[in-house]
Parts: sequence; C-alpha cells; structure tokens
Amino acid sequence: MSDFGTLEFALFFISLSLIIYNLCRRKHYSLNLPPGSMGWPFLGETIAYLKPYPATTIGKYMEQHISRYGKIYKSHLFGEPTIVSADAGLNRFILQNEGKLFECSYPRSIGGILGKWSMLVLVGDMHRDMRVISLNFLSNARLKSHLLREVEKHTLFVLSSWTHNSVICAQDEAKKFTFNLMAEHIMSLQPGKLETEQLKTEYITFMKGVVSAPLNFPGTAYRRALKSRSIILKFIERKMDERIRNGREDENDLLGWVVKNSNLSKEQIMDLVLSLLFAGHETSSVALALAIYFLQGCPTAVQQLREEHMEIAKAKKETGKTELSWEEYKKMEFTQCVISETLRLGNVVRFLHRKALKDVRYKGYDIPCGWKVLPVIAAVHLDESLFDQAWHFNPWRWQHQQQQNNSSGASNPSSNNYFLPFGGGPRLCAGSELAKLEMALFIHHLVLNFEWTLAQSDEAVAFPFVDFPKGLPIAVKRHSPLVEENGP
Ligand code: HEM
Repeated sequence: MSDFGTLEFALFFISLSLIIYNLCRRKHYSLNLPPGSMGWPFLGETIAYLKPYPATTIGKYMEQHISRYGKIYKSHLFGEPTIVSADAGLNRFILQNEGKLFECSYPRSIGGILGKWSMLVLVGDMHRDMRVISLNFLSNARLKSHLLREVEKHTLFVLSSWTHNSVICAQDEAKKFTFNLMAEHIMSLQPGKLETEQLKTEYITFMKGVVSAPLNFPGTAYRRALKSRSIILKFIERKMDERIRNGREDENDLLGWVVKNSNLSKEQIMDLVLSLLFAGHETSSVALALAIYFLQGCPTAVQQLREEHMEIAKAKKETGKTELSWEEYKKMEFTQCVISETLRLGNVVRFLHRKALKDVRYKGYDIPCGWKVLPVIAAVHLDESLFDQAWHFNPWRWQHQQQQNNSSGASNPSSNNYFLPFGGGPRLCAGSELAKLEMALFIHHLVLNFEWTLAQSDEAVAFPFVDFPKGLPIAVKRHSPLVEENGP
C-alpha cells in the first residue's frame, strides 16, 4: 500500500470508529440507564470494587455508591460496562430469567483456570447436561442413603484429632473436612492417604490462583495454579484410566458414575470433576469457619444448640445406634436457623456474574443488551430495610420465619424472597442440601464435645472471596470424649 493509501485507510478507520462510537452514545443517551460512574478509562471502578472489607459489611465502595445512586447503578467493572444490583427484586428477576434475558458470564480468567467445560462457565444445553449429572449425584435420596453417613464419618475424622486445651486453625480444619468428603465422594480417595494429601497440596496452589489476579507470567500465583491444574487433571485422568482398565467403572462415586453412564469426553469429565471439587469444597469450608466464628461470639446460641443436640444424642443412645439418622438430622431445627443466619451475615458467595442477552427494562431503568450485570446477593442480605439489625448475628430471626412457613405449609425454614445464599433459578446451587447437612452434622459433634474461644483476634474479610487472614485460630477444650457419644 502507498503512503497515501495508508493515510486514506487510517482516516477511513477513524471515521468509522467515530460513527460507531456516536451511534452507541446516541443509543445510550436515548436509554434511561441507572445513575453511576464509569470510573477511570479501561480500569473503570474494578480496583475500588475489589478492595478487601469486613465480610459482615458491604464495604465502603458499595455503601457510598448505594447512598449516592440508589440500589441499582451503572459502573465499569472487570473490563466491561456493568449494571450493579443491590435490589432484592432485580436480583431475583435476573436469576429467574437465566437463559432468557440474562446469562451466566464469569470473567474469562475463571474459565481459563476451571476449564472450558466447568459448570460455572457453561451455558445452554451443555450446562443442562452437566447439571443433571451433578443433581443426580447430590440428590436427596443419595444424601439419605449415603452422604449422611459419609459426612458424619469425615466430621469425626477431623474432630478426633482436636486435643484438649490446644489451639486449632479452624479454617484449615474446615477445609480438611470438606476436601476429604468431596475427594471420597467424587473419586473414592481415602482421607490421610498419601495420594489424597498430594492432591490436597496441589489443590491449595490451584485455589490461590483461582482467587488471584489472572496474570500469566512466570512466578505469579495464576501461572502456578495453571501448572497445578494440569497436575490435578493428570491425576483425575489416571484414576479414570485405572477404573476402565480394571473394569471398576461401577465404583459408587461420581467418577464411576460418569464413566459408566454419560457420553462425556475425557476432557469434559476432568473439568466436571475439578469444578465439583472446587464448588463443593471451597464454599462449605468457608461457611463452616464462619459458623464457628459467629458462634464463639454468641454463647446463648451455643447453649441452645447444645440443648437441641443433647436431646438428639440422648434419643439416639436409647435406640442403641451409633450413627445419626435422617430423622435425627431433621430434628435439628435451631441448627438450621444458625446455618441460615451464618449464610446471611457471612455471605460466602457475595455476587454473581451475568450478562444481559437482550435490552431489558426494569423499574424504569434500561439494561442494555451485552452489558455485564452483577446481582450482589450480599447487599440484600445486609439490607437494613429487609433484615432488622442486619449486621447482628441473630439466628432467632429464622425461628419466626420457620413458624410462618409452618402455618403456610412451606417446607424450607429459610424460604424467604430476599434470602439467596445459594443463588436461584436454573443455576441454583446443586449442593445446597449437602452444604447444610455438612454444617449441621459438624455443629452437632462440635457443640456436644467442645467449647471454643478465639485464640487470637481474627475476622472474616471479603477479598471478595471470604477468608480469615489468620486462619481463625481457636482455643478448644474438650468436655467429653468423642467415642463415648458415638460408640467405639
Ligand atoms: C455453603 C456452601 C455453598 C454456597 C454458599 C454455595 C453457593 C452457590 C451459588 C451462589 C451458586 C450459583 C452460582 C451462579 O449462579 O453463578 C452455586 C452453584 C453451584 N454449587 Fe454451590 N454453594 C455451596 C456449596 C456447594 C456444595 C457442597 C456443592 C457440591 C458439590 C456445590 C455445588 C455447586 C454446583 C455444581 C453449582 C453450579 C450449579 C449450576 O450452574 O447449575 N455447592 N453455589
């Protein structure tokens, strides 16, 4: 191309860009976008949005934006123009309209590390197929027949290592519990065995990358995590090959089930296993650590829990059984209130990533097609106008809810229009019932056998993933030997 040709091309390109830019601007001027600020060029407001803050609050950024612009505002986050919603009605509307008006849309870096077949990033038919497999594996029938026993076994495995008058890193213990449970349930890995411990070590490196900035340079946490990801995938592949070689496809775990019953490719199975390990381990361990943290600050709740669980343990002893039954689990009513309150105040998952598939109008505001949409579920859970003294740990608020549900025939103690710790709509958490079971059984043995206080001050911080910077060190006193209550 001659010099003139290059100049002509550049002018043409600039004019075209200006025309498109003006068209977009005109379109956006004609739309009634929510108020807000788009922040700095390129960066937008992402840095301020992600700045760490106490997990029982919504952080300064959200507070200031809501008071300035209201519960629905526009911004520029994660590299895209975004509508942020702290509005209970809009959040529900977004989740209920998954696949129609909105669609799951996590940042590309999440897909890079969890895999392109991960359930968190899949949409459409492929998501539906993977979801059916997960729901099948986490069904109520399996919880009753299989998982209840497994959860109790893994609880006792962890708690039996807690010695009287010692200091324990509660966050690590919670992670150990949920990791061992998922590793056994997914791939029949036994707790404490060398291969399980090796996988756990790789998994810790992997997790650090999931929550770090997606910078793929030598020495970064993200690069190390990608390396760990491929080691973990090789491990899963080896397990899969072993099964097929030894004709053990019918092993009673998720890997056995998918190998035998699904048409998924090897690559898809590996991403499914990895994403379930991630979804099922990380979230419930944080929830459990939060429960331990909130309860040490609320002795009246611990006392009431102890009474509830002593009664259950006494009745169990009379039956001569050593393991908890489903009926006994269902009697843990106040425990369910503690779990709901922990999830409301601690907000393990604070916001979800969606994008608008069409131009949507809500409460007079326009949400343009293609924009990112962030339903901030934590902001609703901590909304003073919806929850009385929202910053306060008060499990009894759910008892009132339970009574209302009993009189209306609703079965879920926490069915409340504003309470969405497990998301909602077609992507509602597939493991919500397992998570509650894990927390309830752990709390059962914890309150029956231990007293605990904070050994050092620590608090839950939203990074925005929730973490205890010091690992939640607690001083424990055992007040009865575990074996006495559970049999030898
Ligand atoms: C307290 C613990 C947990 C919390 C707070 C939690 C929260 C959530 C939330 C909010 C979502 C929706 C994500 C979205 O819509 O973008 C989700 C999805 C999911 N969760 Fe959980 N979760 C927990 C425990 C578990 C457990 C124990 C499992 C078991 C494997 C699990 C498996 C899943 C799966 C497979 C999905 C994807 C569902 C889909 O896309 O259809 N979760 N979880």
